[in-house]
Amino acid sequence: MMAYDVESGDQVHPGNPVTVDRYTGGARINHWITATCLVLLALSGLALFHPSLFFLTGLFGGGQTTRAIHPWLGVILFFSFGGLFIRFWRANLWKAEDGTWMARLRDVLGGHEERLPEVGKYNAGQKVVFWSMSILIIVLICSGILIWDQYFAEFSTVETKRFAVLIHALAAVTIICVWIVHVYAAIWVRGTIGAMTKGRVTGGWAWRHHRKWLRELVGKR
Ligand code: HEM
Repeated sequence: MMAYDVESGDQVHPGNPVTVDRYTGGARINHWITATCLVLLALSGLALFHPSLFFLTGLFGGGQTTRAIHPWLGVILFFSFGGLFIRFWRANLWKAEDGTWMARLRDVLGGHEERLPEVGKYNAGQKVVFWSMSILIIVLICSGILIWDQYFAEFSTVETKRFAVLIHALAAVTIICVWIVHVYAAIWVRGTIGAMTKGRVTGGWAWRHHRKWLRELVGKR
């Protein structure tokens, strides 16, 4: 039997939690293409980084193909992340409550959310991850183009290329660390993964972790 809310006429599922839409299908496809690219980039990049990791080239059909594919994956990541950037930059702008949230990091890690200010769609930690990823991807694409000899060999000197290789490797290691923090946080805060797989979160999750965002949504309705 179907049940309906008397006021809104919306379908109600007894026993099921209220859910809140967080991501459109387009945003989720965009996110998972970006995520797949970064994982493949990390694997192919590490394969080229050190002889002890050369065995990873087996995943891409050998050394030459790994070398050819890696920069193109970088180009796809750049444009794919660009899509995420256009969708989410506004929600990641720094707000007054973000400074307070950061100052209370001890409470964040201790799970004392009642001591934290109410936050919008993203908390300060997520915003730091977002802007770090944005900057690092720009650094990676610029340094990557400088060392992409197949097409851009004549555009820079050997000295510039040496410097670019160093910057590229440092930025790559940093983005892998940022990515680990991102995935760890998504798993650690229960109910978050569903936001990016199903596009929805429970009302309880939104109330607990992003109350200001929930209030704004309810206000709009
Ligand atoms: C492969 C493992 C990954 C997992 C499991 C994962 C998981 C998630 C989840 C659950 C969310 C939703 C968080 C929320 O709504 O509160 C999210 C958001 C997001 N993810 Fe990922 N992600 C992964 C990889 C990546 C990569 C590689 C990037 C970029 C290089 C990325 C960029 C983003 C961005 C920009 C958002 C929106 C949050 C914001 O704007 O601050 N993710 N991710």
